[in-house]
Amino acid sequence: MAPRKIIIDTDPGQDDAVAILLALASPEDLDVLGITAVAGNVPLALTQKNARIVCELAKRPDIKVFAGCDRPLRRDLVTAEHVHGKTGLDGPQMADPTMPLQDQHGIDFIIETLRSEPAGTVTLCPLGPLTNIATAFEKAPDIVDKVQEIILMGGAYFEAGNITPAAEFNIYVDPEAAEIVFKSGVPIVVMPLDVTHKALTTAPRVAAFRDLGTQVGDMVAAWTDFFERFDKEKYGSEGAPLHDPCVTAYLIKPDLFTGRHVNVEIETVSELTKGMTVADWWRVTDRPANALFMGDMDAAGFYDLLTERLARL
Ligand code: RIB
Ligand code: CA
Repeated sequence: MAPRKIIIDTDPGQDDAVAILLALASPEDLDVLGITAVAGNVPLALTQKNARIVCELAKRPDIKVFAGCDRPLRRDLVTAEHVHGKTGLDGPQMADPTMPLQDQHGIDFIIETLRSEPAGTVTLCPLGPLTNIATAFEKAPDIVDKVQEIILMGGAYFEAGNITPAAEFNIYVDPEAAEIVFKSGVPIVVMPLDVTHKALTTAPRVAAFRDLGTQVGDMVAAWTDFFERFDKEKYGSEGAPLHDPCVTAYLIKPDLFTGRHVNVEIETVSELTKGMTVADWWRVTDRPANALFMGDMDAAGFYDLLTERLARL
């Protein structure tokens, strides 16, 4: 079967970086048409630079990287340097990228690609705030029906929020954008904290990265060592959740995850709960299902896949 065509929309972020590496290590499964950076974990100037650093680490300077939106639709940008460090990729020393940033705006790349590829053949993979996706849909409504599927990391239901008691970071940063995406009618698969908090690093799992004996393995181990210090302290967990690689792993091996088709709405009004993903998991309303909301995953299988594929780079 031909590899699935995807656009990765991202705010690297150590976990975004691992998600991108997993995608680039899997050419038989995924054809990365381009990477669009968005402001999120750190400002856009850094996320677009970090995306290029990751492509060069994967020895893929040919990948087209675009800068998208530098702030949410209607709110001030909230960043997460407290989690990812001031560069967004803290942990190892990183050289500046030499591959170019594309001149075209990321939004226009998304629109142009969806208009030029056959309808229903391009999957969007947002790993950060949904600003770029929502802006593209608002600017070019004709592309909405051309999207094959959206596989996104964001939200939480049984897990509490990680940036407020009610909200997960990606949705919280731009709730209005998330509302546009979840109401778009595009088939959506959601990787919420409910599953990503089960994709925890452990000492043996990080050691397996380091034991690859490659630059990629060493970088991923150094990123997870940095990334996990925050989550260990906050949650008292053994390791850190590798959120965004769950999106890529789903595209490669969907049976690692289980979930339900339910209605998901986004809180955009209440200051107390803005950014909350209100998932009707028990179907207590007659609101139509608009998302496959994941609830469980095979964490061991996930790390086996991740380590096996990273070994290729
Ligand atoms: O809440 C976790 C999400 O927020 C991840 O995508 C992480 O990279 C940050 O963007
Ligand atoms: Ca991210």
